[in-house]
Amino acid sequence: MSEVSVSELSEAEAREELKRLAGLLTQANLAYHTEDAPVLTDAEYDRLRQRNASIEARFPDLTRDDSPSAQVGAKPSDGFGKVQHAVRMLSLSNAFDAEDVADFDSSIRKYLGLGANTPLAYIAEPKIDGLSLSLRYEDGRLVQAATRGDGSVGENVTANAKTISDIPQYIESAPKILEVRGEVYMSHADFQALNTRHQATGGKIFANPRNAAAGSLRQLDAEITRARPLRFFAYSWGELSAPLGETQIGAMNRFAEMGFQVNPLTQRFENQSDLLAHYAHIEENRASLGYDIDGVVYKVDDLALQDRLGFRSTTPRWAIAHKFPAELAWTRLEAIDIQVGRTGALSPVARLAPVTVGGVVVSNATLHNEDYIQGRDSNGDQIRDGKDIRVGDWVQVYRAGDVIPKIADVDLSKRPDTAVPYEFPTLCPECGSDAVREEGDAVRRCTGGMICPAQAVEKLKHFVSRGAFDIEGLGAKQIEAFYSDETLPVRTPADIFTLQDRDANQLAKLKNREGWGDTSASNLFAAIEERRAIPLQKLIFALGVRHVGEVGARDLARHYLAWDRMTAALDLSRPAALAHRQADLAEQKERIAAADAARRARIKPVRDAAIAQADVPPEAAQAWDDLISVDGIGATLGLSLSDAFANATERQAFDALRAQLRSIEAPDLPNQESPVAGKTVVFTGTLEKMTRAEAKARAESLGAKVSGSVSKKTDIVIAGPGAGSKEKKARDLGVQVLDEDGWLELIAP
Ligand code: IVH
Repeated sequence: MSEVSVSELSEAEAREELKRLAGLLTQANLAYHTEDAPVLTDAEYDRLRQRNASIEARFPDLTRDDSPSAQVGAKPSDGFGKVQHAVRMLSLSNAFDAEDVADFDSSIRKYLGLGANTPLAYIAEPKIDGLSLSLRYEDGRLVQAATRGDGSVGENVTANAKTISDIPQYIESAPKILEVRGEVYMSHADFQALNTRHQATGGKIFANPRNAAAGSLRQLDAEITRARPLRFFAYSWGELSAPLGETQIGAMNRFAEMGFQVNPLTQRFENQSDLLAHYAHIEENRASLGYDIDGVVYKVDDLALQDRLGFRSTTPRWAIAHKFPAELAWTRLEAIDIQVGRTGALSPVARLAPVTVGGVVVSNATLHNEDYIQGRDSNGDQIRDGKDIRVGDWVQVYRAGDVIPKIADVDLSKRPDTAVPYEFPTLCPECGSDAVREEGDAVRRCTGGMICPAQAVEKLKHFVSRGAFDIEGLGAKQIEAFYSDETLPVRTPADIFTLQDRDANQLAKLKNREGWGDTSASNLFAAIEERRAIPLQKLIFALGVRHVGEVGARDLARHYLAWDRMTAALDLSRPAALAHRQADLAEQKERIAAADAARRARIKPVRDAAIAQADVPPEAAQAWDDLISVDGIGATLGLSLSDAFANATERQAFDALRAQLRSIEAPDLPNQESPVAGKTVVFTGTLEKMTRAEAKARAESLGAKVSGSVSKKTDIVIAGPGAGSKEKKARDLGVQVLDEDGWLELIAP
């Protein structure tokens, strides 16, 4: 953007621009603080505020009543009680380079009348990218928690703050009145887990941890906040009935003694070069902290000096935020490529004009799926105000820690006239098969299975990976080379085992291949030979069936104990699996048609009717129930497994592989001697002495199979308080029912 330099602005232009900036920044403040949905990048926001300040410095008389430089944050939103802060919650002025930091130091010295060589200590600590919170304790008890709001009046979020475990609710050694201030934030791991959970359940997907933290704290229902993993760092204070010490670092130590988390990178320094070295150290370690920070805050350590320095209208004179280069950047979207994964999922990838985001050059970013490109989330609701993303667009790239960069926004004002809406392919770009999107699935998938080279290669890579066949010397790179090798192709798992038997001329070629000698070839063959004996669960996992992870594979192996039993059960249950899918579809149709909850509640008969109509043989129904009642299996995994084994190409590949194996080892069922070894048990109701997960692990370690539903095959039902239909069914079937104590007695050593 070509912008007139401030020194060249006429008075009329300056007046006009101050008005524009006031409007823009007010809107940006509102979006950021009240709606948790930023409209400007931090860098752009800072730049505009700076420009506003420079224009005001040159034309002080033009400073507006609603000037952005006199505002902190935005008005609190309706819905929460209002809290008048006893001491205003302020903002920090920013430094962007070493020169700004030097200016900060010299302006302080000037203010205090200190010479350039007079010792002046500062503390430096990370600037946490969350939202600030003020906690008021009276007689040691937490009585109120408030957000910053507009600095004077914040929102009362006391009930929500009480759900955060980093926030003590009672402090033994607190002064009579104590207001602790700090930052509420969410760790990267918790943010990702939250979004993953929300993706599965159709909940709100947050753009970044800061928005997730803000959205989680500002919930009218504190129980929602409780379910969100929020954390808190203490770094400053408001009203106090007694001082916390003589220095900033001393006050931080008091906070730590009171039970608050104080950032471990907080340190005191005597001179500026050490301050800057600490900044560099924090920046270097930024990616591994596990939470977002956007700079380093420097504060004068001596509290008497802080008092003397005092405040400007919205910022203290004794502190400054030395910001990191932004982790958001704008660049051109040059192309959208589609990657096809192991399970056929078509994933759109943004190819970008390379841009530096937070110190890392980014040229690829994920676009998630078809809906995301079109400006919709998984519920069909608008994201980015419904703006779609087109090749040629100017897009905002967001990067947090190590996660794959994402496209956060698009600037419509820079959209070229030639840009057309992106058409998501309905054919697989790798094999030309139909790519279909099933109702309720956010992802479009290639239906080519093993004939799709992309799926086949990914499946093969999975097949040889750790946790699966784990063949030494045969990694992703070699798989790619073998797959596309015309003379010595490896296209299916069985081909790996026939490699050695191929034509001698062809094998000679392998030995001549770059990086391969006699030894490496024979080592590879030996490694392959070794894997002709394989544990059942590794074999099942290696097949790469969608939804079948290592745990699912282990559960299946423990349930069926033998490959042939599992395949026979899958074949037998197939008609029931198909009926289940039909019923699912019928139910889904009804659900879409049902306008309200009352009608939705009547859907079950549709499902039963669909199953009844399918006329499933009883042995098929029984085999299906047996499969999906394995604890942790369920219908989604069951159906996916059933589909894979019923697909002719895949089945042929599985059978060919089976023929190459010497032995398939049954899983160890630990502790055959225990009184519950080999027994099928079902937990129902509430357990009081341990969690369900712990109970399950314990039962399994004693050789029991844990199932999710009661049938004639169930040996024991452990029924806690609140048990319902499962307990009743067990009693009707004459299955042994124990309470938790009875169970613990039974399994006691
Ligand atoms: S001190 C009177 N220290 O940054 C000064 N603020 O841009 C009080 N922040 O409103 C703030 N980490 O929400 C301080 N270590 C830190 C901080 C920090 C994050 C936030 C805080 C503040 C904003 C200013």
